[in-house]
Amino acid sequence: MEPWWKNSVVYQIYPRSFMDSNNDGIGDLQGVKSKLNYLKQLGIDVIWLSPVYDSPNDDNGYDIRDYQQIMDEFGTMDDWDQLLKEVHDMGMKLIMDLVVNHSSDEHVWFTQSKQSKDNHYRDYYIWRDGKGLKEPNNWRSNFGGSAWKLDEQTDQYYLHLFSEKQPDLNWENRNLRHDIYQMMRWWLNKGIDGFRMDVINFISKVDDLPDDELKPGQTYASGSKYYRNGPKIHEFLQEMNKEALAGFDVMTVGEMPGVQPEQAQLYTDPSRTELNMVFQFEHMGLDQGPNGKWELSPLKLRDLKRSLSKWQYALEEKGWNSLYFNNHDQPRSVSRFGDDGVCRIKSAKMLATLLHMMKGTPYVYQGEEIGMTNVPFTSINQYRDIETLNIYKELRADGKSEEDIFKSLHAKSRDNARTPMQWSDQEQAGFTNGVPWIDVNPNYKEINVQKAIADPHSIYHYYRKLIELRKSYDVIVNGTYELILEDDPNVFAYTRTLEDEQLIVLCNFYGKKTSVSLPEGVQLSEATLLVGNDEENEIGLENELVLSPYAARVYYKKEGVTNE
Ligand code: NOJ
Repeated sequence: MEPWWKNSVVYQIYPRSFMDSNNDGIGDLQGVKSKLNYLKQLGIDVIWLSPVYDSPNDDNGYDIRDYQQIMDEFGTMDDWDQLLKEVHDMGMKLIMDLVVNHSSDEHVWFTQSKQSKDNHYRDYYIWRDGKGLKEPNNWRSNFGGSAWKLDEQTDQYYLHLFSEKQPDLNWENRNLRHDIYQMMRWWLNKGIDGFRMDVINFISKVDDLPDDELKPGQTYASGSKYYRNGPKIHEFLQEMNKEALAGFDVMTVGEMPGVQPEQAQLYTDPSRTELNMVFQFEHMGLDQGPNGKWELSPLKLRDLKRSLSKWQYALEEKGWNSLYFNNHDQPRSVSRFGDDGVCRIKSAKMLATLLHMMKGTPYVYQGEEIGMTNVPFTSINQYRDIETLNIYKELRADGKSEEDIFKSLHAKSRDNARTPMQWSDQEQAGFTNGVPWIDVNPNYKEINVQKAIADPHSIYHYYRKLIELRKSYDVIVNGTYELILEDDPNVFAYTRTLEDEQLIVLCNFYGKKTSVSLPEGVQLSEATLLVGNDEENEIGLENELVLSPYAARVYYKKEGVTNE
């Protein structure tokens, strides 16, 4: 039997910003529970909850103080139990975020570890002597500055690939691994349906943690080649399967910055029992310059076609893709790849079509289904994200102008995805009756769930349709992918084929009308239009066709069945 996660659609909830039930301005578990019906109506199968564990919130819950407690602001374990029960009663599944590359520095393992060099937990973290007055190596933290912090008490440095309050766990230590597996089994025994694993390809570091090459002008070097997909990563994941996951019918998705298709084949090949799928990042890096995400560079459609197709082909035989344009770390896709002005609705539908007709498991991030956009904050005081606040300081110190910095933040800050979910045109978008922890996007009167549900032509109803089609057409789940019109600079087009069935997917990626002529062998003559976003246009079944701005069309044919 085919695993359930292959024909599932996952919906990601960032609890802090989803729904506030007690008016403290912070989303919570009862808030999530109150919206389950909405998710059921949308048709999704699986909910992925971003971290809800006890945390001092240096990185909004990705810094965990206690893996087996719920964050006070989000409610209690009893609320969580109720939530899981209700999710299951409604026929949906729940996966939890597993953040085990690092913990919070307030986790008892770390507070112990700091005590002395011979503490039982010392080796749960990565401690090193400095080099003279300098850090043990020249790696840069992913949130800026050195990846090392000196702890005066024992006069050693600890490694933190993210913030200082997120010390990296030492996976070389058998006791640590054992404690993690035990914690995972505790959640699995509670009945969860899987894990999304945070930066899981960072857990194995190259033994001697060598210096990386410094690029001109840099104080710190990346270091990532010494900790991404490190020497023992496959061993650790296989061990995790044996010792934690075995015996549970669950899904696993590993977040993996910098993963290449050849590595993903290994991670997701079922015969190796490591992970079901990975989140790769290649397509998330196509609109940046060589200096990283803050250096903006326009996306070229050809690059996107090449990249997504490469992944489709690579995981065709073995392995499985996850499909996403959005999550809590990325700007809103309609602002990034579409048009969040006049063509917002149409371009959001086009992007959804492009993604949902591919092979893999689609992920919808809260608000994507109503076409939420990036947020036009005007002051740094409106931002909350640690990465954003750090880079702002760094770029200011480097002498960059406010104007330039804001251009980058408006395009790329993670807070673009973290403003409160827009439920209605009520005050604070219906998210809270209190003061939200981060400002609501001012466009909530126009863009909100209530309005979207009432309008049969909304993005929301289009997502419902796409999700429903996946349930009815096996070719969407299992068909073989083939890119067509490879060199067309405006249109992303592909086919999916399964025995005698075929889908032909055509997406005009830009706001200008364009025409295409389909390659030989791809015939529309016997096809029907399954779904599309340009109802206003007459749809001709010719092999030469004109696509209106941001048009998306999916044609379906089955051999021997004509559309007469
Ligand atoms: C990836 C998570 O998605 C992100 O939000 C977080 O800041 C880092 N990992 C560190 O946990």
